[in-house]
Amino acid sequence: MTAPRSDRRSPLLQGGAPRGPAQPDPRVLLDVRELSTWYGAAHILFDLSFEVRAGEVVALMGRNGAGKSTTLKAVMGMVERRRGQVSFLGHDISRAPPHAIASAGLGYVPEDRRIFTDLTVLENLEVGRQPARTSPDGRPLEPWTPDRLFKLFPNLGEMPHRPGGRMSGGEQQMLTVARTLMGNPYLVLLDEPSEGVAPVIVEGMVQMIHELKAAGVSILLSEQNLHFAELVSDRAYVLEKGQIRFQGSMQQLAADDEVRRAYLSV
Ligand SMILES: Nc1ncnc2c1ncn2[C@@H]1O[C@H](COP(=O)(O)OP(=O)(O)O)[C@@H](O)[C@H]1O
Ligand SMILES: [Mg+2]
Repeated sequence: MTAPRSDRRSPLLQGGAPRGPAQPDPRVLLDVRELSTWYGAAHILFDLSFEVRAGEVVALMGRNGAGKSTTLKAVMGMVERRRGQVSFLGHDISRAPPHAIASAGLGYVPEDRRIFTDLTVLENLEVGRQPARTSPDGRPLEPWTPDRLFKLFPNLGEMPHRPGGRMSGGEQQMLTVARTLMGNPYLVLLDEPSEGVAPVIVEGMVQMIHELKAAGVSILLSEQNLHFAELVSDRAYVLEKGQIRFQGSMQQLAADDEVRRAYLSV
């Protein structure tokens, strides 16, 4: 006799996918419609609409101040004043609090690294642990464990007992990503992973993103470095002053001198 398999999806996602004519394309993980945000009286994002599909790596590009970080924060429910609709796996998360969004399988790596400096690498990883998940169509997914993560981040595997405060900036960046993966996310929002880290770490980030994609994790990446974005992404949206000015494949972006010159620093 087999025990009934418990539903390990978050309460937000239990009860199966919604049905009916309103049901969007099931391959769309994240669907953002006409998202606007304000900081106080300052209007920052203007009616952004974009999506991330299962298995995709999508780059959200634009210069400093364009609104990339604000977009990721707004998706995570971390910007108080906002308007528009955000759906994750077909469920409206526009009004959900950040912790519920994270437990629904949306991982977030903020631009400032937030590791615990007094805790070791292994202890930091434990902080991020969430139960294993099933895929949106019900198949069990292989959970992330420290051992599995050390294959992805070999340098972390060499220092499992080192306190976070005694790691380099790049190593801390990797640990932040690894800790987010301990939550077994379907989609990870990565805010400027290549910023301010040594070239060797940037190479490691490229490799890591390729391996995550191969493992079935989807990624929405905020990035102003076109070279980095080209190496890892399938598609891009380019932001300027809180508006989407371009959307298309990386090949289309590479071929569009005008867009690159106007909205990116290349
Ligand atoms: N906490 C905040 N309060 C007020 N304004 C902010 C805050 N955070 C960002 N901004 C402003 O919002 C705009 C977008 O910023 P941000 O999303 O950080 O851009 P990016 O990540 O693309 O560099 C900028 O004009 C920035 O000055
Ligand atoms: Mg930013």
